[in-house]
Amino acid sequence: MTDISPLRDFIATATRCIERHGHDEATILAELAPALGRLVQQDHWLPDAFAQPDPTFYRQYLLYGDPLDRLSVVSFVWGPGQITPVHDHRVWGLVGVLRGAEIGTAYQRNADGTLTRGATSRLEAGGVVAVSPSLGDIHTIANAYDDRPSISIHVYGGNIGRIRRASFDPATGAAREFVSGYSNGQTPNLWAETT
Ligand code: FE2
Repeated sequence: MTDISPLRDFIATATRCIERHGHDEATILAELAPALGRLVQQDHWLPDAFAQPDPTFYRQYLLYGDPLDRLSVVSFVWGPGQITPVHDHRVWGLVGVLRGAEIGTAYQRNADGTLTRGATSRLEAGGVVAVSPSLGDIHTIANAYDDRPSISIHVYGGNIGRIRRASFDPATGAAREFVSGYSNGQTPNLWAETT
């Protein structure tokens, strides 16, 4: 049985932080980025059921959903070479790489609705980046490896599995609304993994 206490500690820290700081996004991100960094700098707490890639599409396993929808924590598992579409979030988010490495590419939306591709950065295991409508909210994330999975832990300032947001055609900027949902179909009760 996996000891998920580092995850439980992170969730407690994040919940207290949100209770203290409400909608003060800058303060929340400043406190939670190092806390998420501490979580992903250790790799022994994520049960295998939440680390399984799929051969065709990246997976999003819900690890925790705040009962008041102030917070959600998701394990993203990329198979070799897998990449997200260009997409936005519409809430603040933190991405911490637990295993492997990821390539993030930022996009900016122009006044005419087209997209301009921005910087690309590589995030190694243990690293954390933030996204939000005020920081830059449109990007892709790809597995940096084409021969093995990568896993990152995402934290959002809402229930990302029920937020209406958009993916974009990078060539035209055309937006398509979506709600991402979760891949937890056959996964066991995470909360039974600890005493
Ligand atoms: Fe994203």
